[in-house]
Amino acid sequence: MSSYTVSDTKKITTKRIAEMKRTGEKIAMLTAYDYTMASLLDEAGVEMILVGDSASNVMQGNLTTVPITLDEMIVYGKTVAKAAKRAMVLIDMPFGTYQGDPYEAQRNAIRIMQETGADGVKMEGGAEIRDAIELILRAGIPVCGHLGLTPQSVYKFGSYALRASGDAEAKKLKEDALLLQELGCFILVTEKIPAALAREVTAMLDIPTIGIGAGSGTDGQVLVLQDMLGLNRGFKPKFLRLYDHLGDQIIDSVGNYINDVKNGEFPNEQEQY
Ligand code: KIV
Repeated sequence: MSSYTVSDTKKITTKRIAEMKRTGEKIAMLTAYDYTMASLLDEAGVEMILVGDSASNVMQGNLTTVPITLDEMIVYGKTVAKAAKRAMVLIDMPFGTYQGDPYEAQRNAIRIMQETGADGVKMEGGAEIRDAIELILRAGIPVCGHLGLTPQSVYKFGSYALRASGDAEAKKLKEDALLLQELGCFILVTEKIPAALAREVTAMLDIPTIGIGAGSGTDGQVLVLQDMLGLNRGFKPKFLRLYDHLGDQIIDSVGNYINDVKNGEFPNEQEQY
């Protein structure tokens, strides 16, 4: 057992997340896409696990989050929800599942909830998807908003650069943040925006904000697990802190195994029947 294993195993709910904003306790969120990793995150005590559509990049090797499908997100989501005994699990609604007909969006969100056992969904965008958000909330499904850099719109933006650094985009982001809160979103992710803007939005809202590349003024932080563990070698944006270099360690371990096999040193007497 690690010294980080949490003893309090009470399930984290939307109520607890709201309480954390009120009491000023920071919220720790990480992504996961499989049972083994999600079990470890849950044991370590993250409050929230996001089955992000970043699975498209880190699990499937795609250049963007656009190609991942609803069926694929449901497979990842199911394995994570099974593992998370304490953490709240959110699943990204993938591109194309909520930007059109809002009733179809509602059906897709219901599928996610019924087929995965997750605790809520995350959706990228503000006013332009309000009808879909309203219907999903009306079905009783907790919704996490996502503003700033919204990777599903990368082809519109043309890059993954910092968002809302100009006045007009910052104004729209603040209006969208207030709208999402008014509609009933219980939490908001702000991605790759100036730290001062993220701090201002956080102070303005009663719901918690979770930042990624948005500075320290948000109510919590999220990182992609493969990035912070150093598994996604070569990906080192300014906002990322590397908590490990597991990619290098895995290559070393696998190299040692290969050597042992080739030298006839594995298995030894104790490792056979
Ligand atoms: O897909 C994802 O992992 C995300 C986080 C980076 C917020 O949306």
